[in-house]
Amino acid sequence: MQDSFGRKIEYLRISLTDRCNLRCRYCTPEGGIQSSGNEEKLTTEEILRISELLASLGIRRIRLTGGEPLIRKDTEEIVGRLKSIPGLSAVSMTTNGSLLSGRVEALKKAGLDSINISLDTLNPLTFRQMTGSDRLFDVLEGIREVKDAGVPFKINCVPVLGMNEKEIEEIALIAGKEPVDVRFIELMPLGCGVDFTGLSSGEILDRLEAAFGAAEADDQRSSTEGPAGYYRFEGFAGRIGLISPVSGSFCAQCNRVRLTSDGFLKLCLRHSSGVDLRTPLRDGAAEEDLKRILEEAVMQKPASHDFWKDVKDPEEKRMVQIGG
Ligand code: 5AD
Ligand code: SF4
Repeated sequence: MQDSFGRKIEYLRISLTDRCNLRCRYCTPEGGIQSSGNEEKLTTEEILRISELLASLGIRRIRLTGGEPLIRKDTEEIVGRLKSIPGLSAVSMTTNGSLLSGRVEALKKAGLDSINISLDTLNPLTFRQMTGSDRLFDVLEGIREVKDAGVPFKINCVPVLGMNEKEIEEIALIAGKEPVDVRFIELMPLGCGVDFTGLSSGEILDRLEAAFGAAEADDQRSSTEGPAGYYRFEGFAGRIGLISPVSGSFCAQCNRVRLTSDGFLKLCLRHSSGVDLRTPLRDGAAEEDLKRILEEAVMQKPASHDFWKDVKDPEEKRMVQIGG
């Protein structure tokens, strides 16, 4: 599938649920959000049907997100069934890690290709302050099990001023000790994110270079690495990735669309444009009609977003509903 700007769309992010067991302050309001009702949620069969259709139209990689994707009890089954769809080269997951422990082997067996785990802090008090929960040790245990199982993984950290920003060197050191990519993501002014201040990738790089010496840009980027720019520090076993949704712009290379848990195909994180797939699906639309709806939707993908400009059509959904 190509959009109207000639971008090849081959990456689908599926939000398996809009619920999350954590309450990260930059993502979810304290009382949580009004989760969509069960009737509104796509069933496992519906998720698989849409994935099959999109794969037949050229989607090659799928990432499962949330909320927290492991809130669902059948995440392993979804992974396994997605893996059997012809044409898909990889199925991965982004998780907060707190529900991973005990499920890693089953996810691996189902064929999960890789996992991105959020880790904003290594300090239990800061973890509680940032997420409203005491599950840091569950997250660390989950990471250990993923490592032991040999499932490829990355660590994602969103530095936030006054919260965890003092820890970025310590978190970067995970890549110092182990051959794993640690990625820092600029806080996006979306949803609850508007109430906090993140660090720019430039600031993060300056801080890390002050601590660990000059970084070397890693230009061995593969097409599956997405929007991260990677760096190597001398003596580090792994790499540092910087993801710059705010200071940089990767809209021109954007290859993704998103499916929300209530069946809306979103074309851009920052715009509300997209199409409702649930209604035609439940109305028994024919395969060809569904494909046409998908292809037409992709043609509406906006050229770009600008977080700071008053876009005509700002997205009202919160990150916990969109899935990052
Ligand atoms: N800006 C950047 N990242 C965010 N996440 C949630 N809200 C924001 C935001 N406003 C991240 C989480 C997690 C991923 C699913 O999305 O930290 O890593
Ligand atoms: Fe935190 Fe991710 Fe849950 Fe949001 S979706 S509250 S960032 S764990």
